[in-house]
Amino acid sequence: MLRKSVLRLLGRTGASRVSLLEDFGPRYYTSGSLSARDDARDARAYFTTPIFYVNAAPHIGHLYSALLADALSRHRRLRGPSTAATRFSTGTDEHGLKIQQAAATAGLAPTELCDRVSKHFQQLFQEAGISCTDFIRTTEARHRVAVQHFWGVLKSRGLLYKGVYEGWYCASDECFLPEAKVTRQLGPLGDSFPVSLESGHPVSWTKEENYIFRLSQFREPLQRWLRGNPQAITPEPFHHVVLQWLDEELPDLSVSRRSSHLHWGIPVPGDDSQTIYVWLDALVNYLTVIGYPNAEFKSWWPATSHIIGKDILKFHAIYWPAFLLGAGMSPPQRIYVHSHWTVCGQKMSKSLGNVVDPRTCLNRYTVDGFRYFLLRQGVPNWDCDYYDEKVVKLLNSELADALGGLLNRCTAKRINPSETYPAFCTTCFPSEPGLVGPSVRAQAEDYALVSSVATLPKQVADHYDNFQIYKALEAVSSCVRQTNGFVQRHAPWKLNWESPVDAPWLGTVLHVALECLRVFGTLLQPVTPSLADKLLSRLGVSASERNLGELYFLPRFYGHPCPFEGRRLGPETGLLFPRLEPSRTWLVKAHRT
Ligand code: MSP
Repeated sequence: MLRKSVLRLLGRTGASRVSLLEDFGPRYYTSGSLSARDDARDARAYFTTPIFYVNAAPHIGHLYSALLADALSRHRRLRGPSTAATRFSTGTDEHGLKIQQAAATAGLAPTELCDRVSKHFQQLFQEAGISCTDFIRTTEARHRVAVQHFWGVLKSRGLLYKGVYEGWYCASDECFLPEAKVTRQLGPLGDSFPVSLESGHPVSWTKEENYIFRLSQFREPLQRWLRGNPQAITPEPFHHVVLQWLDEELPDLSVSRRSSHLHWGIPVPGDDSQTIYVWLDALVNYLTVIGYPNAEFKSWWPATSHIIGKDILKFHAIYWPAFLLGAGMSPPQRIYVHSHWTVCGQKMSKSLGNVVDPRTCLNRYTVDGFRYFLLRQGVPNWDCDYYDEKVVKLLNSELADALGGLLNRCTAKRINPSETYPAFCTTCFPSEPGLVGPSVRAQAEDYALVSSVATLPKQVADHYDNFQIYKALEAVSSCVRQTNGFVQRHAPWKLNWESPVDAPWLGTVLHVALECLRVFGTLLQPVTPSLADKLLSRLGVSASERNLGELYFLPRFYGHPCPFEGRRLGPETGLLFPRLEPSRTWLVKAHRT
């Protein structure tokens, strides 16, 4: 029989209700339109990834979290008006029992382990093109200052008291668990031991005097915040789950551990016998990065979007907003939640030996290829499965064949001997569909293509706002298919530049296809930055012409001049994305990693 978790409160109990300095009523979120008005309203944007534990090397799930945040912040920067208005932070979570124990097991001092693994993350993120503006380590002095200050604010507002916590603690998940969330698991020798029902990680019984945060007082404020901001947690099912959690009792939370038990952390100010709970320490990183406690942080808070995995939802959607409200601040504007990657249908785990090293993947599929795969196939609502054949098939069909093939068809010397952006002929492709005449060549499907590509940037922006990057990529991919259909339909290789009848239409077909490619290249920048650069450079699009604000698709069709018409294409740079060979040995390699 398991003992019952008990939170016995020794300190003051009936503290006054929390007074909230800031209103957290409904807010207006950007609709995703690309107008300057929207950009002005949401002038500042701050994206964050979770900070990663340094007990083990990074895997593809960690890279995925970082890539989502990277794509969101790159997309935001492309929308302008000024790149300085976007910040993007990531980093490593280096304190706590989990790291203390991992260092002891490895026979290393905690600092040594932290330096080593933090560097792995930094190198990986650099290789993978993660465009963070800050990489924070919780062992930095600036962070200690921020955490201790934040603690002081909670204390001064009467939200911390001393009490005895007695119950289950899971060091792997760094969290306290109620009895109902603990079960027993059979060990190899038939013995049984208690584990967390959710994560399966071992738990141990703990009883000690700690500082306790009056979390129970925040149930209603949190409910009001979530009900007034239905987009606060995206996708919606996660918002719903949090509201369901809040229907249940919300006990106070132990926010420190005895230093004799947990020495690897930030001491409680004025009480060295206690170390601050690692989740409180870790969550404050989001403030440290923007300069907290100096007033400068206020220009970035709460214009914040946290990108997190579903396993850490409770910490970000309940504890963190409650801490913030307690400190007189607003909860973050958005919490974007994603699901997990499995490998060949199984959860990644050291014991199964199937943990996939992201650097091996970047080498095999290229940086842009693997970024594209994870973001194209990763669906926030559900877990997604990774295996080599799936990556190869997707990249060969969408990047090598469809996109690369399209570029090649429109720029190859034999079809475009002058290597220029040819002229668009308004009589061959009048802006009004259905006109008939001897030189009108455009068909109904061609108007459908123009309309699809014209609306694509807005569609993509809406998908980004709803954290559906995979849908944005799906929409781009579908337009690429449509454009290939357009080229196939009009078979420019059968038209003759020498013929006065063919030439204007041949130029128009190529012009339209190149305009479509220019839109695709621009929209793909947040996901495949190098590939997009290669594509846009080949089209002769300069660096200052790659923002979403200036992306006027096919202006000649709408009666405006086109700055690209007649311009020389950029130099030939070889295949846009070379086809990948299937690998028979890959699975074995992935499992051994
Ligand atoms: N240190 C905490 C976060 C503190 S943030 C204030 C932590 N670290 S973690 O290294 O365990 O996880 C970091 C992120 O990686 C989380 O968003 C988590 O969901 C994500 N992933 C871990 N495994 C994953 C997969 N298998 N697939 C996708 N993402 C996964 O939690």
